[in-house]
Amino acid sequence: MATGRIFSGVQPTGNLHLGNYLGAIRNFVRLQHDYECIYCVVDMHAITVWQDPAELKSTTREVAAAYLAAGIDPKQSIIFNQSQVAAHAQLAWIFNCIARMGWLNRMTQFKEKAGKHRENASVGLFVYPNLMAADILAYKATHVPVGEDQKQHLELCRDIAQKFNNDFGVEYFPITEPLILGAATRVMSLRDGSSKMSKSDPSDNSRINVTDDADTIARKIRRAKTDPEPLPETREGLKDRPEADNLLGIWAALSEQTKDEAVAEFAGGQFSEFKQRLADLAVEKLSPIADEMRRLMAEPDHVDAVLADGAARADAIARPILDEVKDIVGFLRQ
Ligand code: TYM
Repeated sequence: MATGRIFSGVQPTGNLHLGNYLGAIRNFVRLQHDYECIYCVVDMHAITVWQDPAELKSTTREVAAAYLAAGIDPKQSIIFNQSQVAAHAQLAWIFNCIARMGWLNRMTQFKEKAGKHRENASVGLFVYPNLMAADILAYKATHVPVGEDQKQHLELCRDIAQKFNNDFGVEYFPITEPLILGAATRVMSLRDGSSKMSKSDPSDNSRINVTDDADTIARKIRRAKTDPEPLPETREGLKDRPEADNLLGIWAALSEQTKDEAVAEFAGGQFSEFKQRLADLAVEKLSPIADEMRRLMAEPDHVDAVLADGAARADAIARPILDEVKDIVGFLRQ
């Protein structure tokens, strides 16, 4: 058994997709056998952009249901929603005073999300990575499984930990390691191999949602953008063919193969046949999760009870850490 504590989170912003599953949630399930794991539904991150309140409650339960349906054991691991544990917001404030404007100005995700309307973005969106660092360090987590797009945020978390330790002359916060695992750490849009599969893409055809039914999955894969060439004979042949690269990466991840093995299996083949096999495999892997999610969503009281139990256990870990942080910073407390 590896030693260390894992923390990770998913935003409840709807449209949970194959990228979230292959880049993050599937790894969460696997890591729970080797680490103490804390998995969060980050509702406070979600409201950095507008969320309809009733919908936020429902999407929060949906991410929790996805965690459970994918196989996270709520007895062994902790599953909870962020806003139920006050330490996240409290530590985030301290980190707002540690992180530098210049660091946050470099965050590519802020630039992408704020777009041209930077002046109109919420302040929360700008300090989003500080809250993320607070999520992780409120538990002194040592490892954080994520998809590739979160790498820069995790570097900022390390910078914050380091600056806190330096400023106060302590060896307090760990320097957290990202865990970016598997053959699909950056799943791309089915409509455009150069942009990431994303919950917020206006085209539903760009992504496979975890809750899509079999026909929808097959249709989206059939219509996925490709080029006119047959599939390549070698890995080098994927260069400059982002759509083929993406679909073979998805195949590799779903079938537990390496990319090289996936390329070898379909070398020289036609996309039409490959897409049929990929659709069948995606349905085989996702439909049991979608079925279980639907069952859980029909029992919101059960999901809420899992989140409440997880929140109490998370709070019990974070509270003494926050007390120590207050002592280090110089806050009086009882
Ligand atoms: P979020 O909700 O955007 O995504 C959840 C997880 O899914 C991964 N992911 C992908 N992986 C592969 N291909 C894709 N196309 C793809 N899209 C998303 C993300 O990398 C992530 O692991 N800021 C985080 C949530 C968060 C968090 C944290 C994560 C808040 N606090 C603390 C780790 C630790 C986010 O927006 O994830």
